[in-house]
Amino acid sequence: MEQRINVTEFVLLGLTQSPQGQKILFVIFLLIYLVTMVGNLLIVLTVVSSPTLHVPMYFFLGNLSFMDAVYSTTVTPNMIIDLFYVKKTISFQACMIQLFTEHLFGGAEILLLVVMAYDRYVAICKPLHYMTIMNQWVCTLLLLLAWTGGFLHAIIHILFVYNLPFCGPNVIDHFGCDMYPLLKLACTDIHIIGFSVLANDGAICVVLFTLLLVSYGVILRSLKNLSQEGRRKALSTCGSHVTVVVLFFVPCVFLYVRPPSTLPTDKSLAVFYTIVTPMLNPLIYTLRNEEMQNAMKKLWIRRRK
Ligand SMILES: *[C@@H]1O[C@H](CO)[C@@H](O)[C@H](O)[C@H]1NC(C)=O
Repeated sequence: MEQRINVTEFVLLGLTQSPQGQKILFVIFLLIYLVTMVGNLLIVLTVVSSPTLHVPMYFFLGNLSFMDAVYSTTVTPNMIIDLFYVKKTISFQACMIQLFTEHLFGGAEILLLVVMAYDRYVAICKPLHYMTIMNQWVCTLLLLLAWTGGFLHAIIHILFVYNLPFCGPNVIDHFGCDMYPLLKLACTDIHIIGFSVLANDGAICVVLFTLLLVSYGVILRSLKNLSQEGRRKALSTCGSHVTVVVLFFVPCVFLYVRPPSTLPTDKSLAVFYTIVTPMLNPLIYTLRNEEMQNAMKKLWIRRRK
């Protein structure tokens, strides 16, 4: 009978083996993580405590920032701490938790971007009905849908990987637990199913990305009905939204729409979407948004009094 020894922990190779490189990465990632947390939590705080921002668009933005902060926390601190260890290990359980949270928040965020596009579509193309369509109940429902979608997405992946036999080797050439490296380590030949799970992700990515680009196209077309001032504001908001959409979906498409194999560029791509993107969102939304900046200033003045 076949003997199966199940792996209880994985060894991560990390981004680099050189001690000098690890020191540099430590400084860079720590800075990025701090900026990510401060930026996103500042947005959450501003949205929650500024009555002028109590409208759907900012509620969604606040929720997006919250997800960004948590998403980044599921991977980055662990990776920063790992830079101190020569042998980086992660237990099987911790690996599964990381995989789950990453897919939960990643999935929910992508769906939230769709919700935000719908919100802008209603605001710009159906301004007279905006208040009735996007009422508190609908906002909550849309958020719930995003979370449910993220949850289903994560649970499918985790159930699949959890039931794979891992009988060694247990070395992951990555800085965290991710689908591709894990599938490579499984010691049965169900890679085909595994990669079809990923192909499915790829298809969802492409469909949503196309849908989003089309919606912003429709929004742009209807801008000609607006006043000059309205058009300027709408262009600036939608510009930020589209930038964030591109930041999210380009890695997603690169990662999933391709032949089933691990590529050398995977690690740098993963650094980008797990570590850098969550930092960029708050920058994109605050640097170009006067309403947000004013609310932040007011908050700051109120605190100092
Ligand atoms: C998230 O959205 C809900 C409902 O729209 C809102 O009540 C809540 O304040 C938002 N959270 C943040 C952090 O913006």
